[in-house]
Amino acid sequence: MAIEQTIHDIHFEDAPNVSTSIPGPESRRLLEEQKNIDSSAVAYPKNIPIAISEAKGATLRDADGNTFIDMFAGIGVLNVGHSNPYVLDGVQDQMGELVHTVDFPTEARLELIRKLNEIAPGALPDDNRVVFGGPTGSDAIEATIKLAKYNTGGDSLIAFRGAYHGGSSGALSLTAGRKYKKDYTPLLADVHHVPYPYAVEQDRDPDEARRIAIENLRELLEDPYSGVTNPAGIWVEPIQGEGGVVVPPKGFLNDLQELASENDVPLIVDEIQTGFGRTGQWFASEWEGVTPDIMPMAKALGGIGLPLSATMYREDLDTWGPGGHVGTYRGNVPAMVAGVRAIEYIQDNDLLNHARDLGQYIRDRLRAVADGRSSVLQVRGRGLFVGVEFDDTESKSGKELVAAIQQHCYERGVLVWSAGRRGSVLRLIPPLVLTRSQAEIAMDTIVSAIEETCPSD
Ligand SMILES: Cc1ncc(COP(=O)(O)O)c(C=O)c1O
Repeated sequence: MAIEQTIHDIHFEDAPNVSTSIPGPESRRLLEEQKNIDSSAVAYPKNIPIAISEAKGATLRDADGNTFIDMFAGIGVLNVGHSNPYVLDGVQDQMGELVHTVDFPTEARLELIRKLNEIAPGALPDDNRVVFGGPTGSDAIEATIKLAKYNTGGDSLIAFRGAYHGGSSGALSLTAGRKYKKDYTPLLADVHHVPYPYAVEQDRDPDEARRIAIENLRELLEDPYSGVTNPAGIWVEPIQGEGGVVVPPKGFLNDLQELASENDVPLIVDEIQTGFGRTGQWFASEWEGVTPDIMPMAKALGGIGLPLSATMYREDLDTWGPGGHVGTYRGNVPAMVAGVRAIEYIQDNDLLNHARDLGQYIRDRLRAVADGRSSVLQVRGRGLFVGVEFDDTESKSGKELVAAIQQHCYERGVLVWSAGRRGSVLRLIPPLVLTRSQAEIAMDTIVSAIEETCPSD
């Protein structure tokens, strides 16, 4: 199938349109039933209480027929939009032919590996291998831990404060957030978290934040009394996602790569949330011209939300024997077709440029409303990965401000999400297929939410 439908053809045209009280009666019924039979761990409907019945492109329809503009894309999964027709068409055909293969070769598997090679960052094209394992981002992180340990013979894992790398035991060990891990410790032994250069939180000039972060890491690696014996790898998000869309100061990733290579320690760049065009480059490490030694990917890799993860690594690290890394679900062919088609759709529609332009427009609107409001601490991000950090006011915490903005937007048909160590960051990660006119409507709503919630000085 040729790619016929552009980003202008793939949404519910009436979104946003909220015509019932929300949650509407049908959403309320399903939410109530969910409360009765589903797990107490269910979280997302607590902040956005809707039941979803259908979704297309950058829009959703709830069980009462209300439509919404989706500004969080299933947390960075749906870069080509919900049920993208070009991707869906390939997936549906594949479903009728072959679904599960472990790791036998298929056209789709090899085509996806070739496509990943084509878009690989830095010096990785033609110098890489790709391993598939379990379907989640956390599974890919587990693979990176094994790969790094296997190749270096090292034990110590180094990660950053503010990091989120997943919820399985190894990944959770690298994750920094106390709330995720406090009930499950001890996790992996010998994990060290060093400061990420987060200038706003640290109240520092960005260059100073960068220098201090690198010095801390240098000490950990090079001081014989640092407590680290034999490092296996350094894990970093090129932009911290859950930690609050924290963009590190320019040059930090280059310094990090240099330091890792001086010390012969692999640099594992976690592109799980930032990959596949999210930041206006295929991978966020490209903004700094950095080549990861190892790069886990997931989320948008499965195109329309099919579960698929993979890890790309430098070819000389390909030392595992057969079965060196395993997992029953390492050959989901429809998900691999989806991955290929999603990459093709992004290429054909020039969505990297679109993400850069639209992200700039969104940040400009946010900066304009932030002007004269000291509770809006910072607007940041790259491409369509956007964060707005809020400060506490006399009457509300930053987290409460974000919750109030989210509620205002939800009632008017725009779905936004939060992030940050204290929940005080508004996070916008819309599908890359969001159109300019949808972005204008969404930003009108978000800007008026900020005006209503945050007093001007
Ligand atoms: C940077 C990063 N790494 C890893 C993960 C874990 O992925 P998953 O939730 O698919 O296990 C996430 C999830 O949000 C993430 O943002």
